[in-house]
Formats: sequence, structure tokens, C-alpha cells
Amino acid sequence: MKRILLIGGSGQLGTALRAELADAEISAPAHVAFDLVTDAPAALLDGAHYDVAINCAAFHNVDTCEREPDKAFAANTLAVDGFARACAERDIAFMTISTDYVFDGTATRPYTEGDAPGPRTTYGVSKLGGELLARRSGRKHYVVRTSGVFGTVGTSSKGYTLIDKVLGQAERGEPTRMVADMTFSPSYAPHVARAIRGLIEAEAYGLHHVTNAGACSWFEFVQAAFAKAGFADAALEPVAYASFGNPVQRPMYSPLANTTFAALGLAPLPRWDAALDEFLAARSRRVQAAT
Ligand SMILES: NC(=O)c1ccc[n+]([C@@H]2O[C@H](COP(=O)([O-])OP(=O)(O)OC[C@H]3O[C@@H](n4cnc5c(N)ncnc54)[C@H](OP(=O)(O)O)[C@@H]3O)[C@@H](O)[C@H]2O)c1
Repeated sequence: MKRILLIGGSGQLGTALRAELADAEISAPAHVAFDLVTDAPAALLDGAHYDVAINCAAFHNVDTCEREPDKAFAANTLAVDGFARACAERDIAFMTISTDYVFDGTATRPYTEGDAPGPRTTYGVSKLGGELLARRSGRKHYVVRTSGVFGTVGTSSKGYTLIDKVLGQAERGEPTRMVADMTFSPSYAPHVARAIRGLIEAEAYGLHHVTNAGACSWFEFVQAAFAKAGFADAALEPVAYASFGNPVQRPMYSPLANTTFAALGLAPLPRWDAALDEFLAARSRRVQAAT
């Protein structure tokens, strides 16, 4: 395995990547030790002989990005550009993680890597900018678009995982309202991490959509989790996104389809409901180990 630098290694995807790449020589500086926005890459890269640098850091609270576009573009666009160029200058392959929010959500079938982006949010525009600038940095770049990531740790902006939060509500007998008119491809972080490993091993540079197979609404996702975890009778209400009165125009339909894996001999990711089974089994093991 290669020598890998991982930025954002304490997050949802970063935690799964550290587990997946445990046999590699991996360095994952904490955010306090290296800030992608404010710190110069040279100190981190010079003399370390990395083969690949993976960027999982982002400013990705969608509503906050709308209010603070300067921070969104600093982290998701300009910092990615600077880091990608610093890697290219040192012949280090660079991977950055992007999002289904680069699409406008008006499609009637899952978006492939060949479909034209059309982001409607500041977050989506800033992430697309990061993609384009990473591409410009040189041949040895990977852009991995994923969506609706769920793993064992919460996101840094929210501090919880959705499924843990709603299962907690069900356990306490509290009602849950979930958006039923927004469709996406859930992505189990350990499965995304395994696919990323495959891409790195194959040196399959370029753009790849990496999500679990299939699609569902947020309501269907939580409904399946409740049924699988023994809370089929929990109070769960389907609601329209518009009912929240949020002016941010999220993509209402953003499933991603992968068209690159077959030619690379890489296995497609399992379906999202099978991924949910794995997540819940791992969650049960964690709960048992903690009691
Ligand atoms: N979560 C999703 O559903 C989703 C969907 C599509 C795409 N993505 C993309 O996937 C990637 C990973 O997302 P995630 O869910 O794993 O995020 P996450 O859980 O929030 O993790 C982000 C990581 O980046 C670190 N970080 C944040 N800002 C940084 C900075 N300026 N410098 C250095 N490190 C910084 C965080 O450290 P601290 O916590 O210490 O700040 C954390 O380790 C992101 O690019 C995101 O845009 C996520």
C-alpha cells in the first residue's frame, strides 16, 4: 500500500478511511495541527514522500455556507486549489471529496459522471469550484462525489449521525419528522472508504461517483432504519421540504450513478438498505461493548 496523507481524518469519512487504510503508512494530522484554509501545505508535504493526499475536510453545513459564502469558498474552493497545486508540484496524487449538491436536482434518473453540474447552493458552487481547480492541477487527481454519508461518528458541523439521532428519539418515544420529497443515494462511510481504496490501488484518476446503490427519500431511509432496529411502530411523520420554510434550494433529486467501476474491475457498492444492516449491526456491537 502507498504512503497516504489524510486531511479531515477525524470526520465521518475520514474515520472510515483510517480504518480501511490501517495497513498503509497513513498520516492524519488533526485539524488543530493543520488547517487546510490557513496553513501552508509545504510544511506538511516537504520531505514526507507521500504518494497520495486525500482531502476529507470541508465547510459543508449547507445552510451556514449560504450565510457565510466567504468561508465556504475559502475552504471548499481556494484551499483545495492551493493544496492540489502543492501536491502536483511534488508529484503527489491528490484526491478531494465532493458532493451530489453539484447537481440541480431536476433529473429524472440518477446523475452519472458525464452529466453537467448545475449547483443551486453556495455549498454546491464552492464544491464544484474545488473540483474544477483540482482537475486543473494536473493528471494525478481524483474527485470522488458522494452523498448522504452515514458512519460511526457525527459530522464536525452537526456532532451527531442522523440514524443515531432518530433512533434515540424512537427509544425515548419522541416523534420524528422526515423529508419525504427529497431523494438521494445514502452512502455508508466504510463502503465509500473501501471503494476509495480500490480507486487508489488502481490509480484510477479522474471523477467517480461513489455511493451505495439505489436511492430513497430521507423518510424512507429512516423508516427502514426504524423497521430494521425494531422500532417499526415509532412515530414517524413524512413531511415536505417546503414545510420547514428553508429558503435554501437543495437538490430535490440527487441520486448518483457510477459508470467508471466496471471498466476498472471494481465491485459496485452494496445497496443502501444492506449498508443500513451493516451500520446497525456495528452500532449494536458498539452499544454492547459500552455496557
Ligand atoms: N456528510 C455528508 O453527507 C456528505 C455528503 C456529500 C459529500 N460530503 C463531502 O465528504 C467530505 C467528508 O465529509 P464528512 O461527512 O466526513 O465531514 P465531517 O465528518 O464534518 O469531517 C470533516 C473533517 O474535516 C476536518 N476539517 C474541517 N475543516 C477543516 C480545515 N479547515 N482544515 C483541516 N481540517 C478540517 C474536521 O475536523 P474538526 O472536526 O476537528 O473540525 C473533520 O475531521 C467533505 O468534503 C464533504 O463535503 C459529505
